[in-house]
Amino acid sequence: MKRLERDKIVFGIIGCGAIANIHAKAIKSIEIAELRAVADVNIDSACNLAQRYQVEKFYGDYRELLKDDSIEIVNICTPSGLRAEIAIDCARAGKHIIAEKPIEVTLERIDKMIEECEKNDVALAGIFNNRYNKNYRIVYDMIKKGRFGNLILGDVYVKWYRDKEYYTRSSWRGTWRFDGGGALMNQSIHFIDLLQWYMGPVESIKAYTTQAVHKYIETEDLGVAIIRFKNGALGVIEGSTALYPGLHDRIEIHGENGSILIENSKILRWEFRDKDPIDEEIIRNKGLETFELGSSRDPMEIPYELHKREIEDIINSLREGKKPLIDGYEARKAVEIILAIYRASKTGEEVKLPL
Ligand SMILES: NC(=O)c1ccc[n+]([C@@H]2O[C@H](COP(=O)([O-])OP(=O)(O)OC[C@H]3O[C@@H](n4cnc5c(N)ncnc54)[C@H](O)[C@@H]3O)[C@@H](O)[C@H]2O)c1
Repeated sequence: MKRLERDKIVFGIIGCGAIANIHAKAIKSIEIAELRAVADVNIDSACNLAQRYQVEKFYGDYRELLKDDSIEIVNICTPSGLRAEIAIDCARAGKHIIAEKPIEVTLERIDKMIEECEKNDVALAGIFNNRYNKNYRIVYDMIKKGRFGNLILGDVYVKWYRDKEYYTRSSWRGTWRFDGGGALMNQSIHFIDLLQWYMGPVESIKAYTTQAVHKYIETEDLGVAIIRFKNGALGVIEGSTALYPGLHDRIEIHGENGSILIENSKILRWEFRDKDPIDEEIIRNKGLETFELGSSRDPMEIPYELHKREIEDIINSLREGKKPLIDGYEARKAVEIILAIYRASKTGEEVKLPL
């Protein structure tokens, strides 16, 4: 993996819509990072983002941005199903890549991205900002420490609401080609990633998906899946954008020696047979920090600090010549689970992984 060796790490952003603002803010807040250029097919969007964050250059064609040798990392913030070709061009231009979630919408497209990055010795990192929330990370740490004992059951419930305007404002949303799916692929993926991070690989899935309310989109606005994990544990995924007014998302993890419940990133239950010095603070403060990915109703209620932490972590890995924590293979896992849910729903059969 090509190391980052310069004192200043220079970034470019491709795709200058809503989430690009969070990336720009995060990059600008990192002392050793500089955001030098942005690009969008809609040059007005590129210009607006550049003005908002005092960025030197903006382009209507991302290939112009790739010609800039000072740029070492490119953040791809386009619609989900438009990342593969851009990522391949970035890799060929020798740029490291940070791709938003989902990293792409089919396994074939993700595999091409991984292959091209490996061929060109550049990193491919996927954004899963929730993994950088200490309240979610501490659960992973406790699982690794063995406090849960054998894992028995892991559930995620993402009972969110999006209105019609959310889907009609951007034509790519709710389409198979560009969004890759609906409530599961776009919204619930954050929690499906956490679930598989905690519980380990999935063995098989049974599922139903439906269009409960948003009949005008191509994809599901409600999905329910039953999961069997490789370690023998079971689980449930419920994901929706149809449930007015939108409830808090919830994760529940149960092992033979303890259970936790996190709602809207606050730890509401934290109970183990053994005791640990960290328990008191977690129980008193409902976790180790107060960030919320509070998107149950408003898609843009996203704190930039979690992106900042992930980008800093990526920089640190690349300075040591190591691959990022959430590399292409890691970011692929949640997408594979969601694609398995779609297949199970379509065929009515139990679907085994890997696909
Ligand atoms: N991590 C998170 O919490 C989070 C939150 C919201 C969105 N996202 C992800 O970010 C991505 C973008 O979502 P958004 O809400 O910002 O969408 P958006 O529609 O607001 O912005 C997408 C931008 O990409 C531009 N674009 C399209 N094709 C392009 C191309 N070929 N080259 C350059 N620019 C191009 C569009 O013109 C638009 O400005 C999606 O994949 C979404 O899943 C992640």
